[in-house]
Amino acid sequence: MTNLKNDLLLRALMRRPVSRTPVWIMRQAGRYLPEYRKIRSEAGDFLSLCKNPDLACEVTLQPLKRFKLDAAILFSDILTVPDAMGLGLYFKPGDGPKFKNRIRSIHDIHNLNIPDIEKDLGYVFEAARVIHRELNGSVPLIGFAGSPFTVGTYMVEGGSSREFLNIKALAKEEPNTLDLLMNVIAETTIEYLNGQIDAGAQAIQIFDTWGAILDDDDFRRFSMKSMQKIIDGLIREKDGQRIPIIVFTKGAGSLLSDLADIGCEALGVDWSIDLDTARKYVKDKVALQGNLNPKTLLASPENIRQGVIDTLTSYGVGPGHVFNLGHGITPDVKPEHLAVLVDAVHEFSPSFHNE
Ligand code: CP3
Repeated sequence: MTNLKNDLLLRALMRRPVSRTPVWIMRQAGRYLPEYRKIRSEAGDFLSLCKNPDLACEVTLQPLKRFKLDAAILFSDILTVPDAMGLGLYFKPGDGPKFKNRIRSIHDIHNLNIPDIEKDLGYVFEAARVIHRELNGSVPLIGFAGSPFTVGTYMVEGGSSREFLNIKALAKEEPNTLDLLMNVIAETTIEYLNGQIDAGAQAIQIFDTWGAILDDDDFRRFSMKSMQKIIDGLIREKDGQRIPIIVFTKGAGSLLSDLADIGCEALGVDWSIDLDTARKYVKDKVALQGNLNPKTLLASPENIRQGVIDTLTSYGVGPGHVFNLGHGITPDVKPEHLAVLVDAVHEFSPSFHNE
């Protein structure tokens, strides 16, 4: 099979039998960990941390030292891609990401720098190589990128947004311009993810945080189609091992049934629907990952354990489930609470498997 000591994640993503449900957590390396905040301040700021492969490796491994997690996720960001396209990414503390230059017209799209992937994003591949070496086959390394639409929202809005007025206007007024932007981002993302796979990533997640702000037809045209283009372009097997792809569209709801046909092995599910409902939408075509409400981690240990049981019960018995939150862990969570969650998955999930 694989030469990994723990290949539960890859097996579950392929819907093969497992002895218990694997667990990893979106944003598992992050500000809720005091040791992360320490390394970030040593690096100077978040972007400098992403650009330093040894420190990026150190923070990637921090959560694995504390918790019995079944995967590592490359420490980086989805916005490294538009940064490499010349938009000038910066982070204002407490204010989220911002771009010096935003996309205002079709001319700005034509003027984007098409990255020289090794030169402009090689620091990400170097981090993946260092992490893969340090993991030494203990658990798989997940690589990732944003969906073209999600990355595009930051490029068109110039940073985080509440209303997404500019990109929604573009979708309605100049759909062909938005198609062009989706294609440009998708093409770079294919090279970017294949570079991560070459460097040692053993599974890939595409983060589509904002696709579901679109109406359903526009979601299919802009977000889903461009993710399918990426999937069609990725290396799907390396050293005889399948590279499974997870697509996480937050708030996808009934669109999960469309997403189940775009060629990925698994779909991420947020907490707005139950896993048993999600399972009906995807009809055993793909595995599911999720979906405990991240706010549950602010509750008592007893409530966290109950939340784990409820999530496992909602998916039900059988293979094809990866335990995760329905979105990233937030900075206000006590690390001990995440330990309660991970331990509960280890304790309760074996009874949901027949192996
Ligand atoms: O999951 C992991 O542990 C891997 C690292 C990771 C980061 N960002 C590190 C990060 C991953 C997978 C991401 C993905 C990402 N980045 C997404 C999609 C997932 C999601 O959360 O919806 C998005 C939309 C971004 C863009 C981004 N990066 C925003 C909006 C912000 C600011 C908001 C925030 O949470 O602070 C970031 C910064 C960021 N990316 C941090 C981390 C650990 C916090 C920066 C800090 O340390 O100050």
